[in-house]
Amino acid sequence: MQRGGNMPVPRRKVRPLCVMMMFNIFICILVGISWTLRDGNGVRQKIRIPSQRFWRQQVPSKSFWNKEQQRLDFIYNPVINSGLSSDSIIELPGWLNDTGPLNLCEPDNRVLVQISDYNSLPQRFQDFLLHMRCRTYPMLLNQPSVCDDKPFLLLAVKSLIPHFDRRQAIRETWGRAGVIANRTVVTVFLLGNTVSADHFPNLLEMLAHEAKLYKDILQWDYRDTFFNLTLKDVLFLEWFNKHCPQTKYILKGDDDVFVNTLQIIELLEGLSEVKAKDFFIGDVINNAAPHRDSKLKYFIPESVFEGQYPAYAGGGGYLYSGELALRLHNVSREVALYPIDDVYTGMCLKKLGLVPEKHTGFRTFDIEEKYRYSPCIYRNLMLVHSRTPQEMLTIWQGIDHPELDCQ
Ligand SMILES: *[C@@H]1O[C@H](CO)[C@@H](O)[C@H](O)[C@H]1NC(C)=O
Ligand SMILES: *[C@@H]1O[C@H](CO)[C@@H](O)[C@H](O)[C@H]1NC(C)=O
Ligand SMILES: *[C@@H]1O[C@H](CO)[C@@H](O)[C@H](O)[C@H]1NC(C)=O
Ligand SMILES: *[C@@H]1O[C@H](CO)[C@@H](O)[C@H](O)[C@H]1NC(C)=O
Repeated sequence: MQRGGNMPVPRRKVRPLCVMMMFNIFICILVGISWTLRDGNGVRQKIRIPSQRFWRQQVPSKSFWNKEQQRLDFIYNPVINSGLSSDSIIELPGWLNDTGPLNLCEPDNRVLVQISDYNSLPQRFQDFLLHMRCRTYPMLLNQPSVCDDKPFLLLAVKSLIPHFDRRQAIRETWGRAGVIANRTVVTVFLLGNTVSADHFPNLLEMLAHEAKLYKDILQWDYRDTFFNLTLKDVLFLEWFNKHCPQTKYILKGDDDVFVNTLQIIELLEGLSEVKAKDFFIGDVINNAAPHRDSKLKYFIPESVFEGQYPAYAGGGGYLYSGELALRLHNVSREVALYPIDDVYTGMCLKKLGLVPEKHTGFRTFDIEEKYRYSPCIYRNLMLVHSRTPQEMLTIWQGIDHPELDCQ
Protein backbone atom coordinates (compact mmCIF):
# COMPACT_ATOMS: atom_id res chain seq x y z
CA MET A 1 0.00 0.00 0.00
CA GLN A 2 1.28 3.31 -0.89
CA ARG A 3 1.05 6.10 1.56
CA GLY A 4 -0.80 9.12 0.32
CA GLY A 5 2.22 11.35 0.71
CA ASN A 6 4.22 9.34 -1.74
CA MET A 7 1.45 9.25 -4.27
CA PRO A 8 2.85 10.58 -7.47
CA VAL A 9 1.17 13.87 -8.09
CA PRO A 10 0.36 14.60 -11.68
CA ARG A 11 3.15 16.78 -13.01
CA ARG A 12 1.11 19.77 -14.08
CA LYS A 13 -0.11 20.22 -10.48
CA VAL A 14 3.41 20.39 -8.99
CA ARG A 15 4.19 23.85 -10.36
CA PRO A 16 1.26 25.76 -8.83
CA LEU A 17 1.85 24.03 -5.50
CA CYS A 18 5.50 25.03 -5.45
CA VAL A 19 4.62 28.56 -6.44
CA MET A 20 2.08 28.73 -3.61
CA MET A 21 4.63 27.48 -1.11
CA MET A 22 7.28 29.88 -2.32
CA PHE A 23 4.78 32.68 -2.12
CA ASN A 24 3.92 31.80 1.47
CA ILE A 25 7.54 31.67 2.46
CA PHE A 26 8.10 35.00 0.76
CA ILE A 27 5.25 36.60 2.71
CA CYS A 28 6.64 35.16 5.95
CA ILE A 29 10.04 36.68 5.22
CA LEU A 30 8.50 40.03 4.34
CA VAL A 31 6.50 40.15 7.53
CA GLY A 32 9.56 39.09 9.49
CA ILE A 33 11.69 41.81 7.93
CA SER A 34 9.10 44.48 8.47
CA TRP A 35 8.81 43.54 12.16
CA THR A 36 12.56 43.64 12.58
CA LEU A 37 12.70 47.03 10.91
CA ARG A 38 10.01 48.42 13.13
CA ASP A 39 11.81 47.18 16.18
CA GLY A 40 14.98 48.76 14.91
CA ASN A 41 13.28 52.11 14.62
CA GLY A 42 11.90 51.90 18.08
CA VAL A 43 8.35 51.84 16.74
CA ARG A 44 5.95 49.14 17.87
CA GLN A 45 8.34 47.79 20.42
CA LYS A 46 6.91 46.12 23.47
CA ILE A 47 6.54 48.57 26.29
CA ARG A 48 9.19 48.07 28.90
CA ILE A 49 8.94 49.79 32.24
CA PRO A 50 12.34 51.27 33.04
CA SER A 51 13.67 50.24 36.41
CA GLN A 52 15.74 53.38 36.67
CA ARG A 53 15.08 56.85 35.32
CA PHE A 54 14.79 56.51 31.60
CA TRP A 55 16.47 59.67 30.38
CA ARG A 56 20.13 59.79 29.81
CA GLN A 57 21.82 61.96 32.32
CA GLN A 58 23.46 64.78 30.46
CA VAL A 59 27.09 65.39 31.08
CA PRO A 60 28.47 68.86 30.58
CA SER A 61 30.28 69.26 27.29
CA LYS A 62 33.86 70.46 27.41
CA SER A 63 33.27 72.70 24.41
CA PHE A 64 31.90 76.14 25.12
CA TRP A 65 29.35 76.36 22.33
CA ASN A 66 27.95 72.90 23.07
CA LYS A 67 27.55 73.77 26.72
CA GLU A 68 25.74 76.98 25.88
CA GLN A 69 23.48 74.92 23.65
CA GLN A 70 22.84 72.36 26.41
CA ARG A 71 21.73 75.25 28.54
CA LEU A 72 19.35 76.56 25.86
CA ASP A 73 18.03 73.05 25.20
CA PHE A 74 17.22 72.76 28.88
CA ILE A 75 15.53 76.16 29.09
CA TYR A 76 13.42 75.56 25.96
CA ASN A 77 12.72 71.88 26.53
CA PRO A 78 8.95 71.57 26.12
CA VAL A 79 8.68 68.47 28.33
CA ILE A 80 10.46 70.02 31.27
CA ASN A 81 8.62 73.30 30.88
CA SER A 82 5.13 72.05 30.13
CA GLY A 83 4.02 72.21 33.74
CA LEU A 84 5.44 75.65 34.39
CA SER A 85 3.69 78.93 33.93
CA SER A 86 5.51 81.33 31.67
CA ASP A 87 6.90 83.48 34.47
CA SER A 88 8.13 80.76 36.80
CA ILE A 89 11.87 80.38 37.01
CA ILE A 90 13.31 77.09 35.82
CA GLU A 91 15.67 75.49 38.25
CA LEU A 92 18.75 74.66 36.21
CA PRO A 93 21.04 71.79 37.21
CA GLY A 94 24.10 73.10 38.96
CA TRP A 95 26.51 72.77 36.07
CA LEU A 96 24.17 74.66 33.74
CA ASN A 97 23.45 77.43 36.21
CA ASP A 98 26.07 79.98 35.33
CA THR A 99 26.19 83.55 36.42
CA GLY A 100 26.79 85.19 33.08
CA PRO A 101 26.30 88.93 32.71
CA LEU A 102 22.81 90.16 33.51
CA ASN A 103 22.74 92.29 30.41
CA LEU A 104 23.54 89.82 27.65
CA CYS A 105 25.28 92.55 25.66
CA GLU A 106 27.91 93.20 28.29
CA PRO A 107 31.17 91.37 27.53
CA ASP A 108 30.76 87.85 28.90
CA ASN A 109 33.88 87.47 31.02
CA ARG A 110 33.07 83.89 31.98
CA VAL A 111 34.78 82.83 28.79
CA LEU A 112 38.16 83.86 30.21
CA VAL A 113 37.96 81.08 32.78
CA GLN A 114 35.58 78.62 31.14
CA ILE A 115 37.61 78.20 27.97
CA SER A 116 40.98 76.84 28.98
CA ASP A 117 42.84 78.03 25.88
CA TYR A 118 40.96 81.32 25.53
CA ASN A 119 44.08 83.46 25.69
CA SER A 120 45.79 81.54 22.92
CA LEU A 121 42.80 81.56 20.55
CA PRO A 122 42.95 83.83 17.49
CA GLN A 123 41.57 87.31 18.18
CA ARG A 124 38.40 86.72 16.11
CA PHE A 125 37.41 83.89 18.46
CA GLN A 126 38.01 85.99 21.52
CA ASP A 127 35.85 88.75 20.04
CA PHE A 128 33.14 86.31 19.07
CA LEU A 129 33.01 84.46 22.40
CA LEU A 130 32.93 87.61 24.50
CA HIS A 131 29.78 88.76 22.70
CA MET A 132 28.20 85.48 21.75
CA ARG A 133 25.08 86.03 23.83
CA CYS A 134 24.26 89.48 22.48
CA ARG A 135 21.73 89.58 19.66
CA THR A 136 20.30 93.06 19.88
CA TYR A 137 21.94 95.92 18.06
CA PRO A 138 20.29 99.18 17.04
CA MET A 139 19.36 99.81 13.43
CA LEU A 140 21.10 102.75 11.80
CA LEU A 141 19.39 102.62 8.41
CA ASN A 142 16.00 101.06 7.88
CA GLN A 143 13.50 100.79 5.03
CA PRO A 144 10.37 99.98 6.99
CA SER A 145 7.99 100.20 4.03
CA VAL A 146 10.06 98.46 1.39
CA CYS A 147 7.71 95.46 1.50
CA ASP A 148 4.44 97.37 1.30
CA ASP A 149 3.67 95.70 -2.02
CA LYS A 150 3.99 92.22 -0.48
CA PRO A 151 6.82 91.03 -2.71
CA PHE A 152 6.83 87.65 -4.32
CA LEU A 153 10.60 87.51 -3.98
CA LEU A 154 12.86 89.37 -1.59
CA LEU A 155 16.54 89.46 -2.51
CA ALA A 156 18.52 89.92 0.72
CA VAL A 157 22.14 90.58 -0.11
CA LYS A 158 24.93 90.45 2.46
CA SER A 159 27.23 93.36 1.71
CA LEU A 160 29.91 95.52 3.35
CA ILE A 161 29.97 99.30 3.50
CA PRO A 162 32.76 99.89 0.93
CA HIS A 163 31.20 97.58 -1.69
CA PHE A 164 29.38 100.38 -3.54
CA ASP A 165 30.23 98.98 -6.96
CA ARG A 166 28.97 95.50 -6.19
CA ARG A 167 25.65 96.83 -4.95
CA GLN A 168 25.30 99.03 -8.01
CA ALA A 169 26.02 96.14 -10.35
CA ILE A 170 23.35 94.07 -8.59
CA ARG A 171 20.83 96.91 -8.89
CA GLU A 172 21.53 97.12 -12.60
CA THR A 173 21.26 93.38 -13.18
CA TRP A 174 19.78 90.52 -11.21
CA GLY A 175 18.65 92.64 -8.27
CA ARG A 176 16.72 95.16 -10.34
CA ALA A 177 13.79 95.79 -8.06
CA GLY A 178 10.29 96.18 -9.40
CA VAL A 179 8.26 93.82 -11.49
CA ILE A 180 10.19 91.00 -13.13
CA ALA A 181 8.36 88.30 -15.06
CA ASN A 182 5.13 89.77 -13.68
CA ARG A 183 6.26 89.28 -10.09
CA THR A 184 7.15 91.90 -7.51
CA VAL A 185 10.80 91.71 -6.59
CA VAL A 186 12.39 93.75 -3.79
CA THR A 187 16.10 94.00 -3.05
CA VAL A 188 17.70 94.92 0.26
CA PHE A 189 21.38 95.04 1.23
CA LEU A 190 22.33 93.92 4.73
CA LEU A 191 25.15 95.87 6.36
CA GLY A 192 26.81 96.20 9.73
CA ASN A 193 29.13 98.94 10.86
CA THR A 194 32.78 99.56 11.55
CA VAL A 195 34.42 100.27 14.88
CA SER A 196 37.09 102.93 15.22
CA ALA A 197 39.65 100.39 16.46
CA ASP A 198 39.63 98.80 13.00
CA HIS A 199 40.80 102.05 11.35
CA PHE A 200 38.51 102.02 8.34
CA PRO A 201 37.97 105.30 6.50
CA ASN A 202 34.61 106.82 7.32
CA LEU A 203 32.19 106.13 4.47
CA LEU A 204 28.99 106.66 6.43
CA GLU A 205 27.97 109.86 4.67
CA MET A 206 28.36 108.22 1.31
CA LEU A 207 26.31 105.31 2.56
CA ALA A 208 23.61 107.63 3.85
CA HIS A 209 23.48 109.22 0.41
CA GLU A 210 23.22 105.83 -1.26
CA ALA A 211 20.43 104.79 1.13
CA LYS A 212 18.48 107.93 0.33
CA LEU A 213 18.94 107.44 -3.38
CA TYR A 214 17.98 103.77 -3.61
CA LYS A 215 16.09 103.06 -0.38
CA ASP A 216 17.47 99.54 -0.22
CA ILE A 217 20.07 99.69 2.57
CA LEU A 218 19.54 98.07 5.97
CA GLN A 219 22.28 98.77 8.47
CA TRP A 220 22.82 97.71 12.07
CA ASP A 221 25.33 99.02 14.53
CA TYR A 222 27.64 96.09 15.05
CA ARG A 223 31.11 95.32 13.79
CA ASP A 224 30.76 93.73 10.36
CA THR A 225 33.19 90.81 10.39
CA PHE A 226 33.15 87.26 9.09
CA PHE A 227 32.27 85.79 12.48
CA ASN A 228 29.47 88.30 12.92
CA LEU A 229 27.67 87.14 9.76
CA THR A 230 25.47 84.97 11.96
CA LEU A 231 24.42 88.11 13.75
CA LYS A 232 23.57 89.59 10.35
CA ASP A 233 21.35 86.59 9.70
CA VAL A 234 19.58 86.76 13.06
CA LEU A 235 19.03 90.51 12.75
CA PHE A 236 17.72 90.08 9.23
CA LEU A 237 15.21 87.44 10.35
CA GLU A 238 14.03 89.76 13.08
CA TRP A 239 13.65 92.61 10.60
CA PHE A 240 11.84 90.32 8.19
CA ASN A 241 9.44 89.20 10.89
CA LYS A 242 8.59 92.80 11.65
CA HIS A 243 8.62 94.50 8.25
CA CYS A 244 8.24 91.85 5.56
CA PRO A 245 6.28 88.86 6.92
CA GLN A 246 3.99 88.62 3.89
CA THR A 247 6.83 87.96 1.46
CA LYS A 248 6.47 84.70 -0.40
CA TYR A 249 10.14 83.80 -0.98
CA ILE A 250 13.59 84.99 0.02
CA LEU A 251 16.89 84.62 -1.73
CA LYS A 252 19.71 85.36 0.66
CA GLY A 253 23.16 85.65 -0.82
CA ASP A 254 26.51 87.39 -1.00
CA ASP A 255 27.18 90.50 -3.04
CA ASP A 256 29.62 88.62 -5.27
CA VAL A 257 27.21 86.01 -6.59
CA PHE A 258 25.38 86.07 -9.85
CA VAL A 259 21.71 85.18 -9.55
CA ASN A 260 19.47 84.29 -12.46
CA THR A 261 16.37 85.98 -11.11
CA LEU A 262 14.23 84.95 -14.09
CA GLN A 263 15.08 81.30 -13.62
CA ILE A 264 14.43 81.54 -9.89
CA ILE A 265 10.99 83.06 -10.42
CA GLU A 266 10.16 80.36 -12.93
CA LEU A 267 11.13 77.68 -10.43
CA LEU A 268 9.11 79.30 -7.64
CA GLU A 269 6.00 79.69 -9.76
CA GLY A 270 5.83 75.95 -10.17
CA LEU A 271 5.75 75.28 -6.43
CA SER A 272 2.65 74.14 -4.62
CA GLU A 273 1.53 75.76 -1.37
CA VAL A 274 2.40 72.57 0.48
CA LYS A 275 5.90 72.52 -0.92
CA ALA A 276 6.36 76.21 -0.10
CA LYS A 277 5.79 75.59 3.60
CA ASP A 278 9.15 73.91 4.25
CA PHE A 279 10.93 75.15 1.14
CA PHE A 280 14.69 75.62 1.51
CA ILE A 281 17.10 74.90 -1.35
CA GLY A 282 20.72 75.63 -2.16
CA ASP A 283 24.14 74.09 -2.57
CA VAL A 284 23.79 71.63 0.29
CA ILE A 285 26.81 70.26 2.11
CA ASN A 286 26.34 66.99 3.99
CA ASN A 287 28.41 65.27 6.68
CA ALA A 288 30.75 68.20 7.26
CA ALA A 289 32.66 68.69 10.47
CA PRO A 290 34.68 71.61 11.81
CA HIS A 291 38.19 72.14 10.45
CA ARG A 292 40.82 71.70 13.13
CA ASP A 293 43.71 73.24 11.22
CA SER A 294 44.20 76.68 12.70
CA LYS A 295 45.47 78.10 9.41
CA LEU A 296 42.13 77.63 7.65
CA LYS A 297 39.43 80.27 7.36
CA TYR A 298 36.85 77.88 8.77
CA PHE A 299 39.02 76.63 11.65
CA ILE A 300 37.12 75.93 14.87
CA PRO A 301 39.01 74.80 17.99
CA GLU A 302 37.79 71.84 20.06
CA SER A 303 37.37 74.09 23.07
CA VAL A 304 34.67 75.97 21.15
CA PHE A 305 32.76 73.23 19.33
CA GLU A 306 32.65 69.45 19.18
CA GLY A 307 30.57 67.27 16.89
CA GLN A 308 29.38 67.10 13.29
CA TYR A 309 27.67 69.83 11.34
CA PRO A 310 24.08 69.30 10.23
CA ALA A 311 23.32 69.44 6.50
CA TYR A 312 23.56 73.08 5.47
CA ALA A 313 23.35 75.17 2.32
CA GLY A 314 26.47 77.12 1.35
CA GLY A 315 26.12 80.73 2.46
CA GLY A 316 26.90 82.10 -1.02
CA GLY A 317 23.20 81.93 -1.69
CA TYR A 318 20.10 79.92 -0.88
CA LEU A 319 16.40 80.19 -1.48
CA TYR A 320 13.63 79.65 1.04
CA SER A 321 10.05 80.58 1.76
CA GLY A 322 8.90 83.54 3.84
CA GLU A 323 6.81 81.22 5.91
CA LEU A 324 9.87 79.20 6.83
CA ALA A 325 11.80 82.40 7.57
CA LEU A 326 9.26 83.23 10.26
CA ARG A 327 9.77 79.85 11.85
CA LEU A 328 13.54 80.20 11.58
CA HIS A 329 13.24 83.52 13.36
CA ASN A 330 11.33 81.83 16.14
CA VAL A 331 13.68 78.92 16.56
CA SER A 332 16.89 80.94 16.27
CA ARG A 333 16.62 82.09 19.86
CA GLU A 334 16.91 78.46 20.91
CA VAL A 335 20.18 78.00 19.04
CA ALA A 336 23.37 79.55 20.40
CA LEU A 337 25.14 81.80 17.89
CA TYR A 338 27.77 79.92 15.92
CA PRO A 339 30.64 81.76 14.20
CA ILE A 340 29.88 80.33 10.73
CA ASP A 341 26.59 81.68 9.46
CA ASP A 342 25.54 78.99 6.97
CA VAL A 343 26.25 76.23 9.48
CA TYR A 344 24.15 78.17 11.98
CA THR A 345 21.21 78.25 9.57
CA GLY A 346 21.62 74.47 9.14
CA MET A 347 21.46 74.11 12.92
CA CYS A 348 18.24 76.12 13.06
CA LEU A 349 16.69 74.03 10.27
CA LYS A 350 17.63 70.89 12.14
CA LYS A 351 15.95 72.22 15.25
CA LEU A 352 12.80 72.61 13.16
CA GLY A 353 13.20 69.02 11.99
CA LEU A 354 14.01 70.07 8.42
CA VAL A 355 16.84 69.37 5.99
CA PRO A 356 17.81 71.78 3.20
CA GLU A 357 17.38 70.36 -0.28
CA LYS A 358 20.20 70.29 -2.79
CA HIS A 359 19.57 71.98 -6.12
CA THR A 360 22.19 71.61 -8.84
CA GLY A 361 21.44 75.11 -10.16
CA PHE A 362 23.15 76.61 -7.11
CA ARG A 363 26.89 76.72 -7.73
CA THR A 364 28.52 78.31 -4.73
CA PHE A 365 31.73 76.52 -5.75
CA ASP A 366 31.55 77.93 -9.27
CA ILE A 367 31.28 76.16 -12.62
CA GLU A 368 33.96 74.81 -14.95
CA GLU A 369 36.25 77.55 -16.17
CA LYS A 370 35.55 76.79 -19.85
CA TYR A 371 31.86 77.70 -19.38
CA ARG A 372 32.58 80.86 -17.46
CA TYR A 373 31.97 83.17 -20.42
CA SER A 374 29.22 81.36 -22.26
CA PRO A 375 25.93 83.16 -21.62
CA CYS A 376 23.76 80.16 -22.41
CA ILE A 377 25.16 78.29 -19.41
CA TYR A 378 23.81 80.96 -17.09
CA ARG A 379 20.31 80.68 -18.52
CA ASN A 380 19.82 77.38 -16.76
CA LEU A 381 21.66 78.12 -13.54
CA MET A 382 20.14 79.71 -10.47
CA LEU A 383 23.19 81.12 -8.76
CA VAL A 384 26.95 81.21 -9.29
CA HIS A 385 29.76 82.30 -6.98
CA SER A 386 31.83 84.38 -7.48
CA ARG A 387 31.49 87.15 -10.07
CA THR A 388 32.84 90.71 -10.29
CA PRO A 389 30.49 93.65 -10.91
CA GLN A 390 31.71 93.79 -14.51
CA GLU A 391 31.07 90.10 -15.07
CA MET A 392 27.56 90.51 -13.63
CA LEU A 393 26.73 93.13 -16.25
CA THR A 394 28.15 90.99 -19.06
CA ILE A 395 26.33 87.85 -18.00
CA TRP A 396 23.05 89.65 -17.42
CA GLN A 397 23.15 91.12 -20.92
CA GLY A 398 23.72 87.65 -22.25
CA ILE A 399 20.76 86.01 -20.55
CA ASP A 400 18.44 88.97 -20.89
CA HIS A 401 18.66 88.89 -24.70
CA PRO A 402 15.67 87.00 -26.03
CA GLU A 403 17.32 86.71 -29.46
CA LEU A 404 20.17 84.68 -28.00
CA ASP A 405 19.69 81.19 -29.35
CA CYS A 406 20.63 78.62 -26.75
CA GLN A 407 19.32 75.43 -28.29
C1 LIG B 1 21.24 79.48 40.14
O1 LIG B 1 21.69 79.18 41.44
C2 LIG B 1 21.41 80.20 42.40
C3 LIG B 1 22.01 79.81 43.72
O2 LIG B 1 22.72 78.65 43.65
C4 LIG B 1 19.91 80.38 42.53
O3 LIG B 1 19.61 81.42 43.45
C5 LIG B 1 19.34 80.76 41.15
O4 LIG B 1 17.94 80.83 41.21
C6 LIG B 1 19.76 79.71 40.13
N1 LIG B 1 19.31 80.18 38.82
C7 LIG B 1 18.67 79.42 37.94
C8 LIG B 1 18.29 80.07 36.65
O5 LIG B 1 18.39 78.26 38.15
C1 LIG C 1 0.39 88.85 -13.61
O1 LIG C 1 0.14 88.52 -12.24
C2 LIG C 1 -1.17 88.77 -11.83
C3 LIG C 1 -1.27 88.52 -10.33
O2 LIG C 1 -0.29 87.67 -9.88
C4 LIG C 1 -2.13 87.88 -12.63
O3 LIG C 1 -3.46 88.11 -12.24
C5 LIG C 1 -1.95 88.16 -14.11
O4 LIG C 1 -2.74 87.28 -14.86
C6 LIG C 1 -0.49 88.01 -14.52
N1 LIG C 1 -0.33 88.42 -15.88
C7 LIG C 1 0.38 87.71 -16.75
C8 LIG C 1 0.52 88.29 -18.10
O5 LIG C 1 0.86 86.64 -16.47
C1 LIG D 1 30.61 91.47 16.61
O1 LIG D 1 30.06 92.73 16.83
C2 LIG D 1 30.12 93.16 18.17
C3 LIG D 1 29.41 94.49 18.25
O2 LIG D 1 30.02 95.46 17.46
C4 LIG D 1 31.58 93.27 18.60
O3 LIG D 1 31.65 93.67 19.95
C5 LIG D 1 32.27 91.95 18.42
O4 LIG D 1 33.63 92.07 18.70
C6 LIG D 1 32.08 91.46 16.99
N1 LIG D 1 32.60 90.12 16.87
C7 LIG D 1 33.52 89.80 15.99
C8 LIG D 1 33.92 88.37 15.93
O5 LIG D 1 34.04 90.61 15.25
C1 LIG E 1 6.57 81.73 17.03
O1 LIG E 1 6.49 81.49 18.42
C2 LIG E 1 5.34 82.03 19.02
C3 LIG E 1 5.44 81.85 20.51
O2 LIG E 1 6.12 80.70 20.85
C4 LIG E 1 4.12 81.34 18.42
O3 LIG E 1 2.95 81.87 18.99
C5 LIG E 1 4.10 81.59 16.92
O4 LIG E 1 3.01 80.90 16.33
C6 LIG E 1 5.39 81.13 16.30
N1 LIG E 1 5.40 81.53 14.91
C7 LIG E 1 5.73 80.70 13.93
C8 LIG E 1 5.71 81.26 12.56
O5 LIG E 1 6.08 79.55 14.13
